Amino acid sequence: MYPILFPCVLVLFISICKGQQRSSCNVVPKDQYIEVGSNTTVFCQTSCIGGRIFWMLNNVRVNESLPNTVNSSHAVLSLRNFTLHSATLQCHSADTEQILGGTIIKTYSKPSQIRCILHYVNQSKEGMPQLFTCNWEHQNNSPLMINYTVLVSQREICNNARVHTCTSRDIHLSGDISLTRNISVTVRAKTTVWEANSDPYEFHPYRILKMIPPKLNVTVASDHLLIEWRRSLSRRRCHCQVKYNQIVSSSTPEFVLNETLSREKNGKVFVKVESCSHYKVSVRCALDGAPWSDWSQERTVLTGLNKTDVELNLWRKLTKPGTNGVRKVHVMWTGIPSTCPGTFRYIIKQIPYNDTVSGVSFAETFCSDSRRCDIDVNRDAHRINLTVFFNEALLVEDSVYVPAAAGESFSEVTEIPSSQAIGGVIVVSWKAPVQPVRGYMIDWTHNGNQYYWMETEYTNMTLSGLLEKKKYSVTVTPLFPDRTGHGSEALHICSSVGDPDNVTIGAVHASDKSADVKWSTKLQEECSGAIINYTIFYSSQEGPSLNFTVDGKQRGAFLKDLRPDVQYSVYVRATALSGTSESSERLFKTKKFDPRLSTVLSVSGSIIIILVLSLGLCCTIQWKRFKEKLVPNPGHSSLALWPSAGHQKGTCPFQAFSDPSASFCDRVYTEEMQIMPSPPSGTGCHDDRASEQTEEHTDPATVLAPDAQNGGPAEPVKTQHLCPEESTELLSSTEDNTSSAYRSQSTGESPALRTSKQCKLVPLKQEDKLAPVTVYVTLEMYEQDQGR
Ligand SMILES: *[C@@H]1O[C@H](CO)[C@@H](O)[C@H](O)[C@H]1NC(C)=O
Ligand SMILES: *[C@@H]1O[C@H](CO)[C@@H](O)[C@H](O)[C@H]1NC(C)=O
Ligand SMILES: *[C@@H]1O[C@H](CO)[C@@H](O)[C@H](O)[C@H]1NC(C)=O
Ligand SMILES: *[C@@H]1O[C@H](CO)[C@@H](O)[C@H](O)[C@H]1NC(C)=O
Ligand SMILES: *[C@@H]1O[C@H](CO)[C@@H](O)[C@H](O)[C@H]1NC(C)=O
Ligand SMILES: *[C@@H]1O[C@H](CO)[C@@H](O)[C@H](O)[C@H]1NC(C)=O
Ligand SMILES: *[C@@H]1O[C@H](CO)[C@@H](O)[C@H](O)[C@H]1NC(C)=O
Ligand SMILES: *[C@@H]1O[C@H](CO)[C@@H](O)[C@H](O)[C@H]1NC(C)=O
Repeated sequence: MYPILFPCVLVLFISICKGQQRSSCNVVPKDQYIEVGSNTTVFCQTSCIGGRIFWMLNNVRVNESLPNTVNSSHAVLSLRNFTLHSATLQCHSADTEQILGGTIIKTYSKPSQIRCILHYVNQSKEGMPQLFTCNWEHQNNSPLMINYTVLVSQREICNNARVHTCTSRDIHLSGDISLTRNISVTVRAKTTVWEANSDPYEFHPYRILKMIPPKLNVTVASDHLLIEWRRSLSRRRCHCQVKYNQIVSSSTPEFVLNETLSREKNGKVFVKVESCSHYKVSVRCALDGAPWSDWSQERTVLTGLNKTDVELNLWRKLTKPGTNGVRKVHVMWTGIPSTCPGTFRYIIKQIPYNDTVSGVSFAETFCSDSRRCDIDVNRDAHRINLTVFFNEALLVEDSVYVPAAAGESFSEVTEIPSSQAIGGVIVVSWKAPVQPVRGYMIDWTHNGNQYYWMETEYTNMTLSGLLEKKKYSVTVTPLFPDRTGHGSEALHICSSVGDPDNVTIGAVHASDKSADVKWSTKLQEECSGAIINYTIFYSSQEGPSLNFTVDGKQRGAFLKDLRPDVQYSVYVRATALSGTSESSERLFKTKKFDPRLSTVLSVSGSIIIILVLSLGLCCTIQWKRFKEKLVPNPGHSSLALWPSAGHQKGTCPFQAFSDPSASFCDRVYTEEMQIMPSPPSGTGCHDDRASEQTEEHTDPATVLAPDAQNGGPAEPVKTQHLCPEESTELLSSTEDNTSSAYRSQSTGESPALRTSKQCKLVPLKQEDKLAPVTVYVTLEMYEQDQGR
């Protein structure tokens, strides 16, 4: 432990010693604040190393070419035009690169861009301005709190922390300011560690004087405004601006007039304005080079009607004659704004065209609206006459021609091909009729209610100022020298094209590997863009996003190559020239199996089932038949006479029994031998009976055979031997009905064969012994075999 600690202590000691040795190395001055852009010098005491040094400024080695004079104990660094906001300067030993000392240099700037104005507390009272306001700019990013002092002619007027503005409220009282002497302003910024004075700014009082707003008076003449105003400081020249605009909508342009007023002059201008319009007017003034005054209070006026301006621009729209031959005529005109002051009366007269002279009192209609009126006319040609009275005096009169419903030989204009141009403009052109025309009237509407109309000499017209995405109906009517023709209409011209219709996915029929997607479109706006194509985007959660495009006539698409039992999302995008619209997303899940397969399966399954069933039925029927045919009911069994020997030589009389194993022959025995006088009627086939009989006719040789009980094959053979010789009934023990010797025998093939052979022998022998024999047949064992 101690041997390790010792060198450490030694090293520590040495370094302390070294530190003390170097204490004479240092950089001065410490923590300088200098004005941005100024010069400074920094000294490095090098006495502790006595060698060469280098400087690092913000960890960058200072270029050696900078003045860096060295005497034996000091190095000097001169920094010129220093602009860094904050910098760390370090003195390093050139040999060891160790830091000998360091300092931080920070810069500050002085306030600049000083602007001052002289102004008034009360904006309506002339005299000496009371307020003096200055503001300035100052770059400052130090956290130190800065106090600003404004010095006006060496007198402090503000001492505010942080804010870059200062207002003196009683400058006129101080006597520091007179309107004849220049005002000198300096701004001083002061913190605890530095102080910076701005350059002195000189202001001529009248150059910074903000006048009080002029007093405005506006008089209305019919077609112009007389604007007059009185300004302050009339002994000096000033410049004024008159601002006026028509109040129609917020977007109406503002007009500004510049007026220079010489000494002792007040303002007076005429401005030409439109009839029957509201106007807003205001004025402001400024001395030469001085700031503008505030705008004067705004005046609003309504101009009157200039009678010479009135131009009715009368037009009409006709409907087709009704059943009673009456046509509706929508008469409309412009030229008299509804805002006009004064009283107006509008009277419409319908003068039959052929009856201009008769003087008969014509139908007169008084219109309440100042722009339109609906009247009824019959099928005949008419002239519609509009008379306007202003303040009970005739103001203006105009007429328009309504052709007869039929029979007038006017040719209409032909072919109105219309093209819709970009920027919401409709260009209409047509072919002139054969008769000479003086012009054409074009009227257009987007709602059949509000009409616009315009006259032209040419065979084309550009309709502008239209509403966006609206269907316009345009009618061109030729104007003949004295009459007006029938109009030709072009319907449903879109002013501009909107987005395509909305797409909605209707149904998705998903199979295992495909899906059928159907969609529909819903009208979104009047002028929706014609859909050029549909793109179907679909993807599963993991899978890639897929898409394909079908043409715009399709309303459905088939998605192929999907994976079974996967959730997919699908949406459809309609593309038109004007834009696109997208349906919302629709989720669907593919089936696990092909539904067609299951259909096939179920169909074929049912067919198979039906087949199987019918087969089964057949079999059953067949079996039933077979059973009915082949299986004799022991109940019907009866005694039969054994046939004579000559009759049946070497054949078993019961060959009809097909089952060779059920060798009933073995069981044939003669009743006679057993002293049974007559066969029991309808019985004797059952086990009980058999056992009864067995009991009755026990043959000791068989019964005692121990193997019989175990079903050993050997025993029955023995028994069989008995068959011909002793005609002994087969014997089985009462305990073991089911496994009789016979049954056991029937399992083997060879015994059966033997049996049949022996069977043949039996009758022969019997025949030999007894000529007519009564035979009793029992089948109970046979039935048991079947049941097995
Ligand atoms: C080296 O220069 C510094 C600064 O000019 C001065 O104070 C110092 O006395 C000078 N040392 C010698 C040895 O001349
Ligand atoms: C700044 O002004 C406040 C009072 O407004 C004064 O208390 C504070 O000492 C001033 N600070 C400096 C650095 O002059
Ligand atoms: C007054 O100040 C203006 C600048 O605002 C200067 O041009 C002018 O020479 C100054 N006049 C006097 C008398 O100092
Ligand atoms: C009026 O003066 C302003 C600036 O003083 C100028 O911008 C504007 O163009 C002038 N207007 C006219 C109509 O001379
Ligand atoms: C109406 O305006 C015309 C020019 O548009 C003008 O010459 C005429 O003097 C004005 N009429 C009146 C009554 O102001
Ligand atoms: C309209 O007709 C005039 C005269 O024929 C022609 O100069 C002008 O180009 C035409 N304008 C359009 C848009 O067709
Ligand atoms: C669908 O129509 C747009 C617009 O005309 C076209 O740019 C795009 O190529 C079309 N897409 C296909 C796959 O044809
Ligand atoms: C549409 O599919 C094509 C490939 O068929 C692919 O290049 C394109 O990026 C897909 N577009 C989008 C929007 O997924």
